[in-house]
Amino acid sequence: MNILLTGGSGLIGSALVKKLIDNGHQVRILTREKEVQHPFYNWNIDKIDEKVFENLDGIIHLAGASISKRWTKSYKKEILNSRVDTANLLYKYVEKLKPKLKFFISASGTSYYGQITSDKIFTENDAPHNDFLGSICVNWENAAYQFQDFDARVVCLRTSLVLAKQGEGFKLLKKPIQMGVGANLGDGKQWLPWIHLDDLVQMYVDAVENSTINGSYNASSPEMINHTTFNHILAKKLNKPFFMPNIPSFMMRLVLGEMSDLVLKGSRIDPAKIEKEGFRFKYPTLEKALKELL
Ligand SMILES: NC(=O)c1ccc[n+]([C@@H]2O[C@H](COP(=O)([O-])OP(=O)(O)OC[C@H]3O[C@@H](n4cnc5c(N)ncnc54)[C@H](OP(=O)(O)O)[C@@H]3O)[C@@H](O)[C@H]2O)c1
Repeated sequence: MNILLTGGSGLIGSALVKKLIDNGHQVRILTREKEVQHPFYNWNIDKIDEKVFENLDGIIHLAGASISKRWTKSYKKEILNSRVDTANLLYKYVEKLKPKLKFFISASGTSYYGQITSDKIFTENDAPHNDFLGSICVNWENAAYQFQDFDARVVCLRTSLVLAKQGEGFKLLKKPIQMGVGANLGDGKQWLPWIHLDDLVQMYVDAVENSTINGSYNASSPEMINHTTFNHILAKKLNKPFFMPNIPSFMMRLVLGEMSDLVLKGSRIDPAKIEKEGFRFKYPTLEKALKELL
């Protein structure tokens, strides 16, 4: 199939592009300025080359400004616009040029449910949370579901922290432990939902190729562990001691502001819905994932 990717130059996108090509698909990438290896087209907030939409079968929408930079008022806008305005721009072109889209697949986040440390296990039937990232996810998914107007199948993958060798998130978790100064953040009881990059990429490929996958799905490993357990397993695999006192929550709040909730709180996420579609995790446990990542 001819597949257009936004965010195809990023961590998830570049791994996904390789896998799609291996599976015999043709990819086109929309990028703001970078030259990427595969056919690419530049875009900006109001313009896309119409050639992008010729004989197009589907779109995978991964573009989005990082959520790990400080959330100033203007950067919060960028986090939203880079996901929603871009989807709206694609919608305008599809409405005008009418390619026969079979699917529109969008990234979303497990932050949809909020960062809530409790025993509750969140499923796709749960309501979104009304904090900043929860509302970003709602707007992001609503922008994706507009493509049902063109009878396209819409899939949103509510993704937890992606563990990848070259991923910033994993490097940040690993580095202090590797240096022997790893410490839990806050009380360390917050859940830390994660998914291995290879599993996520396979989930996107399944969403492309399996037309029974339709709607929103949690993309998070079935093993649910908290921050403390995660750190202890990681330290053991790295053969490093883990003895530093916890970093108090107030210090994290002082440094990170509102964003500190991202690391101080966390929810349990249930992937059963995607497993019912036949998806099998290659890395269901952190032990298995770290064996590959380290
Ligand atoms: N990685 C994770 O742990 C994780 C977890 C949950 C959800 N997600 C979501 O999955 C998607 C892909 O994640 P990723 O880790 O691959 O991200 P990434 O490596 O940061 O790549 C994001 C892509 O978005 C594009 N982009 C960045 N800022 C933009 C802006 N202001 N306007 C338009 N495009 C912009 C960039 O493309 P160009 O520079 O080529 O234009 C880049 O390739 C993101 O939407 C992210 O929020 C990721």
